[in-house]
Amino acid sequence: MSHDMPKGRRIYEGKAKVLFEGPEDGTLVQYFKDDTTAFNAGKHEIMSGKGILNLRISEFIFAELEKIGVPTHFIETISPRQQLIRAAEIIPLEVVMRNIAAGSLVKRLGLTEGDALPRPLVEFYYKDDALGDPLISEDHIAVFNLCSAEELAEIVTLAKKINQRMVEMFADVGIRLVDFKLEFGRVKSDDGTRIVLADEISPDSCRLWDIDSNEKMDKDRFRQNLGGMVDAYQQVAERLGLMSDIEEA
Ligand code: TMP
Repeated sequence: MSHDMPKGRRIYEGKAKVLFEGPEDGTLVQYFKDDTTAFNAGKHEIMSGKGILNLRISEFIFAELEKIGVPTHFIETISPRQQLIRAAEIIPLEVVMRNIAAGSLVKRLGLTEGDALPRPLVEFYYKDDALGDPLISEDHIAVFNLCSAEELAEIVTLAKKINQRMVEMFADVGIRLVDFKLEFGRVKSDDGTRIVLADEISPDSCRLWDIDSNEKMDKDRFRQNLGGMVDAYQQVAERLGLMSDIEEA
């Protein structure tokens, strides 16, 4: 971490990002670190340049999603590692959308990595590092009141819509969207509370495979010690047409 640090008060430090107080009420600055972790931070390395790539990729995806009517926390990019965002009350769910069997789904159900699923699968994990983010059902969400039934319906509708758009967006640049994780939050405004897409969408939180070679272009390169993680993220940015912005930054 260097000269590009926000000035405001530090509100929360996560594994890959830090949140700072924003310039106005109801805003925060989201700072993207190079820290890379897996297995609930059991494995940790600094991957030089990763934060800058993730910020730009995430900004691009959020902007594409806004275009199809997905409300997000994003306001504007301040610097290569800093985004101004709307402060949201994060719903403690990791919503995972899957198109192809991989990762924990393969382990849990004894599937073969790479098998196409009959239709996109939505899963919920309870966002709690101390518990290792356990898989939960809709009924757990209701019984423990993690969000309301109306909010959950909205989240599922948004997650499916996001998946559809992201599958297309990546297919257009020769990438298969295997699965990814989303987080949502509540933002209060004069006309009530609404659900917004929060956090980030980047190769840290997606599985992305080259359409022809099936080569992994995401954080599995780090989880599985395949090497070349930052080069792969750079390749994702390059294919999405974002590298010139990053080089200028
Ligand atoms: P999984 O197969 O390990 O459950 O992961 C599913 C997707 O969610 C995958 O694209 C990686 C992403 N993910 C995160 O973003 N954060 C996490 O903590 C985990 C476990 C997965």
